[in-house]
Amino acid sequence: MVAARIRLAGGNMRPQEIATPLTRAAIFMVATVASDRTNEIRSLLGEVSGLTKAVGFRYPEDQLSCVIGIGSLLWDQLSPNERPAHLHPFIPVNGATHHAPSTPGDLFFHIRSQELGLCFELARLIKDRLPTGSEIVDEVQGFKYLDQRDLLGFVDGTENPDQSEAAEVAIIREEEPDFIGGSYVIVQKYLHDLKAWEALTTEDQERAVGRRKLENIELDDTIKPVNSHVALNNIRDTNDEELAIYRLNMPFGSLQDQSYGTYFIGYAKDVRITEQMLNNMFLGDPPGNHDRLLDFSTALTGTLFFCPSMQLLELLSDA
Ligand code: HEM
Repeated sequence: MVAARIRLAGGNMRPQEIATPLTRAAIFMVATVASDRTNEIRSLLGEVSGLTKAVGFRYPEDQLSCVIGIGSLLWDQLSPNERPAHLHPFIPVNGATHHAPSTPGDLFFHIRSQELGLCFELARLIKDRLPTGSEIVDEVQGFKYLDQRDLLGFVDGTENPDQSEAAEVAIIREEEPDFIGGSYVIVQKYLHDLKAWEALTTEDQERAVGRRKLENIELDDTIKPVNSHVALNNIRDTNDEELAIYRLNMPFGSLQDQSYGTYFIGYAKDVRITEQMLNNMFLGDPPGNHDRLLDFSTALTGTLFFCPSMQLLELLSDA
């Protein structure tokens, strides 16, 4: 019913603020909610864009934004009859050596700004409005590290689609007429074994990633190993067209816990592309040829959400 109303409203759906560049800070917040609190969740969905304005309006240069994602189980409560075609609980990937677990999550908030304090303020206001019985099951504060590097020391994001292409790969158009303006997002929290990584020579690290560390140039195909991260994630369709996603990864860490990580976040109009990349990394392509980065990076979480267009979000909030 909700999607039918969207169709009547015409195809001019406004996506949430997804296809915008990386900021210097982000908070990634995943929550589970109690199943009998649907009305309160609807109110919250309707409130977040006003809260974002209330906090961010005074600091336009800090570009505060918040994308809301809805998990498969919660979606069924909010809109049981109409669901995005590829929304399902995250499918765990069990490779021979490495494992991508599936972890719970009903709501996801991707809060971005040039200023961490603004992200924190918005996250706090959202948290205060989560209904009784909700739990924040994961919260990561990400930061820009040096010149856009991950904590392994490599520049992350270079081959991301640029601004003109980001919406094309991330935002649904004619593929799902009832969900135009929406996007699928997969998030995973990885921890790195920096001791083991730093024991490698720079050349071995470069072979694991598939790019030069200092200059950030991709290794030539003649020397790029087939188990490098770049080789396994450069995937193409049967017409040899590149299949891309829009990544907004961020480093995070704690010196006290000695935890150093990358929060992976990939938006896609077709989540099967992200799933294919994960299969390549964890199962290997060909099978057994797993991503060398995984020998130094452990996935602790894995969740899939759907991020509806602004109009659909509004309809869900007052359905
Ligand atoms: C431990 C977590 C990860 C780290 C540290 C990491 C880091 C990197 C780095 C340094 C690059 C090369 C520069 C660039 O183009 O961005 C890269 C490329 C890429 N990564 Fe990751 N990544 C991680 C996880 C993932 C995951 C889980 C996926 C997909 C599900 C993914 C998909 C890609 C893609 C599509 C590329 C571009 C490949 C190309 O050159 O065409 N990454 N990543």
